[in-house]
Amino acid sequence: MSELRRHAIDLDDFSAAEIEEILETAESMREVLGREIKQVPVLRGKTVVNMFFEESTRTRISFELAARALSANVVAFTARGSSVEKGESLVDTVRTLQALGADIIVMRHSQSGAPYLVARHFRGSLINAGDGRHAHPTQALLDLYTMRSRLGQIRDLNVVIVGDVLHSRVVRSNLWGLTRLGARVTLCGPPTLIGPAAFWTATWPTIRIVHELDPLLPEADVVMALRLQKERMQSGLLPALREYTRVYGLTAERLARLPKHAIVMHPGPMNEGIEIFPEVATASPAAIEEQVTNGVAVRMALLYRMAG
Ligand code: CP
Repeated sequence: MSELRRHAIDLDDFSAAEIEEILETAESMREVLGREIKQVPVLRGKTVVNMFFEESTRTRISFELAARALSANVVAFTARGSSVEKGESLVDTVRTLQALGADIIVMRHSQSGAPYLVARHFRGSLINAGDGRHAHPTQALLDLYTMRSRLGQIRDLNVVIVGDVLHSRVVRSNLWGLTRLGARVTLCGPPTLIGPAAFWTATWPTIRIVHELDPLLPEADVVMALRLQKERMQSGLLPALREYTRVYGLTAERLARLPKHAIVMHPGPMNEGIEIFPEVATASPAAIEEQVTNGVAVRMALLYRMAG
């Protein structure tokens, strides 16, 4: 096995080879999850703490299932009901969890960059389960795994990511993974939800920024819709939801313009009827449930790599 990984905060420090290796390991983990007894002793005796300071369904539960399938002791920590409510700091909270024997912390936090602070104060391993608008590396890994499993490879795939790009941590981690594995990526959305093109191309020079979705559809292999964060409406970034849906919403008509082999993805949670319609989310090109299912195997693969 190649070098162990201590922390997973974003995909920026993952090489293409390491990502490929995790996706391969996820295949084996999927086989484990298909067995009658879905458990292997990789993390026996280790304690994984799921530390969530922000709401989550998919990420929190799939990390819990993944750690249990690897035989870890799993502890769920939520800020609500903890001493955080009495004013305990993030660093003191982590030191406390360390003193209680945490080996791996899986952390979600609303502040971009919070995992870097925690990693400096924790002797174990840290996995970022989403921080502010900065990064969501395991979502990107499960997205890559899903694309590869549906379409055979990532290299040269034409991937269109549409929606509230500016505020999305999913986009940023996907850009690292997709460009490293050789996909061609187009970001699409209204200018107010993308920002200046140079903001993106300074870091990822090969990507395209486009404001019209319809011309992209006939050439797309993957269309990934992002959650429209309705709170952006209040800050004046969108004039009207209905107008957004008319131009960027994934409707049955737009689905019909995709090539036969193309897939539709969404990291969830979805605003049905806004960025994606229910009949699209459940149609056969949609891989949205597979993304959720694959999240367990992919997170097992990452935990395995960090187990030491
Ligand atoms: N995609 C995602 O992170 O979903 P949750 O917020 O439900 O974990």
